[in-house]
Amino acid sequence: MDGLDDLRGGWLQRIAGASDEAALEEIRVAALGKKGEISLKMRELGKMSPEERQEAGPALNALKDEVNAALAARKAALGDAALEERLKGEWLDVTLPARYRRVGTIHPVSQVTEEVTAIFADMGFAVAEGPQIDSDWYNFDALNIPGHHPARAEMDTFYMARAEGDNRPPHVLRTHTSPVQIRYMEANGAPCRIIAPGRVYRADYDQTHTPMFHQVEGLAIDRDISMANLKWTLEEFFSAFFGTKVKTRFRASHFPFTEPSAEVDIQCSWEGGTVTVGEGNDWLEVLGSGMVHPKVLQAGGVDPAEWQGFAFGMGIDRIAMLKYGIPDLRAFFDSDLRWLRHYGFSALQVPAVHAGL
Ligand code: DAH
Repeated sequence: MDGLDDLRGGWLQRIAGASDEAALEEIRVAALGKKGEISLKMRELGKMSPEERQEAGPALNALKDEVNAALAARKAALGDAALEERLKGEWLDVTLPARYRRVGTIHPVSQVTEEVTAIFADMGFAVAEGPQIDSDWYNFDALNIPGHHPARAEMDTFYMARAEGDNRPPHVLRTHTSPVQIRYMEANGAPCRIIAPGRVYRADYDQTHTPMFHQVEGLAIDRDISMANLKWTLEEFFSAFFGTKVKTRFRASHFPFTEPSAEVDIQCSWEGGTVTVGEGNDWLEVLGSGMVHPKVLQAGGVDPAEWQGFAFGMGIDRIAMLKYGIPDLRAFFDSDLRWLRHYGFSALQVPAVHAGL
C-alpha cells in the first residue's frame, strides 16, 4: 500500500504537537473515528485482491496500533503536565504561621460562677438549679414572706402577665435564688449542702443595679449546724476567692427566711480611691445569711424538730466587680465587644480552688 509512511509521519507529528486533551481528541477522531483517515483506508481493504490485502492489512493494523499508542502516550504526558502546572499554582507553605483569628472570651459572670462553684465543691457543696420563672409561692410564701410583707413590694418584682379570667397562680421572674432552697429540700430532703447560682430579676437600674443580675444561694442542713459553721464556711470561701486571708464581720439583720439573720461584710481598704479586699479597716457588705427559719424548713418538707442549718445569698456580679476591678455593673450586660475582650477570660484559664495560703 502506498503512502503509509507519510500517513504515519503526518499523524505522529500532529499527535506530538497537540497542546491539550481536547486537541488530542480531535486528532483521534480525524484519524481513527468512523470517518477518520485511517479508518477509511481500512475500509478500502475490502476492495483489494487477496494478495494486496495480505500485505496492506497487517501494515494498516500496525499503523492503527501505533497511532493509538502515540495518542495514549501523549494523553498521559499532557495529564502529567497539567497536574504539574496545577501543583505549581496550589503550592502551600505549611510552615507559615496561621492567620490570626479573634477568639471569644469567657464572660466575668461565667468565670466567677465557675470559681465560686469550684471553691464550694471543694467544701462538699453540690450545685442545684431552679426555674427563673417561678410561682409566687416558691419565691415568697414558702420563704416566710406573706402577701402583706413589705419585702414583696421592696423587691420590685416582675409579675408574669395574666389575661382576664386566667386563674393560674401568679408567677414571677424570681427575685432571688432563695426559692431553690425550697425546691431542693422538697426533692431531696435533709441533710444537704448545696449552692444554687443563677439569674434573678428586679425592676431596678443604676450603676450598681440591673434588672437581671446573678446570685448564688447557699444551703447547709444537718442535725447540728450552727452560725459558727456559717462563719467558717464564708471566711474559707472569701479567702479562697480573693486569694488572701479575708476577715468577715457579721451584723445582726432581718430576713423573713432566717432566724437569726446576719448581713456579712468583708474587710477592705479604700486606700488610693480603689477598693482592695482582705486588708485595711473598712467593711463592705457582700451577702445576707442566717439560720434557716423553721417555717422555711417546713415548707420544704424538712422537720425543724430534727434538722437545722444555715443559708446565705450573695451577688455574683458584685463579687466579680470587686475581684476584677470592674467599675460599672451595667456594662456587664451591654454586649460591647471591646468590654468583653478587655474583661473576658481565656477559655483555657481554669479557676483555682485554693488560695495557696
Ligand atoms: N434572698 C436574699 C436577697 O435576695 C439574700 C439572702 C439573705 C439569702 C439571707 C439567704 C439568706 O439565703 O439566708 O436579698
